Amino acid sequence: MSTITKIALVTGANKGIGFEIARRLGQQGVTVILAARNKNRGLAAADQLKAENIDVHPLILDVTHIPSIARASEYLESEFGRLDILVNNAGISHDISLKPSETPIETIRDVFETNFFGTIAVTQGLLSLLHKSPAGRIVNLSSGLGSLSEGSNPASPFYNVKPLGYNASKTALNAFTVILAHELRNTPIKVNSADPDWCRTDLGGEAAPHTAADGAETALWLATLEADGPTGGFFNGRLPVAW
Ligand SMILES: NC(=O)c1ccc[n+]([C@@H]2O[C@H](COP(=O)([O-])OP(=O)(O)OC[C@H]3O[C@@H](n4cnc5c(N)ncnc54)[C@H](OP(=O)(O)O)[C@@H]3O)[C@@H](O)[C@H]2O)c1
Repeated sequence: MSTITKIALVTGANKGIGFEIARRLGQQGVTVILAARNKNRGLAAADQLKAENIDVHPLILDVTHIPSIARASEYLESEFGRLDILVNNAGISHDISLKPSETPIETIRDVFETNFFGTIAVTQGLLSLLHKSPAGRIVNLSSGLGSLSEGSNPASPFYNVKPLGYNASKTALNAFTVILAHELRNTPIKVNSADPDWCRTDLGGEAAPHTAADGAETALWLATLEADGPTGGFFNGRLPVAW
């Protein structure tokens, strides 16, 4: 893998942690497909990275829209013939002040549609291209809020942060990581969940202690794992996070 240029696709890469993951991969010489659901936001972000001499290609991809995923697959097939790295970064939250017992089912469904079903749909849609890579890597952007161990530990900083739809969607996403990693255990493809920690983005808010660039680090590491690296795990800063 060291002598050929890797191809990576990052979803929701027009801003926040996804943008920083795209930037860091590009800085490492990876060809980056910067996927965004909004054309203009994607083009603007890609222009920013092009100005930094990164080999970046904008692509419209709404993770909740199956035809959009199919078009992304066709594009990758025709332009590159394979995919080496898939970073499932696109994610949404909801009003975290809502009581779990009063959170509208539709709100919870909406979050699952993007964070869980969208991630599965993109991964299923692009998996055949990852199988064409000598060392496919799938990184799912999870959250410490998806950790049931943290959520049930009164000493955890996350103990009092309990938006039902968001947290449950990330717990479910972690289950996808474990289950898909098991299916792919006899292939070169590795599947892991990354906890970026609490970062200052539109989703994370202004009070977060870390930058979006900080948040990209764990995902970057998992996206570029060597053959002896882990699969089916959940990490923050290269350390395992309790499920
Ligand atoms: N920030 C944190 O503290 C934190 C902590 C733990 C985990 N995470 C996770 O890290 C990931 C990135 O979060 P962030 O903080 O960078 O959030 P962000 O700044 O709000 O960015 C989210 C990105 O996802 C995109 N997106 C949302 N729905 C989409 C869809 N249906 N299809 C395609 N793209 C979609 C957004 O596009 P638009 O610009 O078009 O809306 C945006 O590019 C998320 O999965 C999040 O859950 C974040």
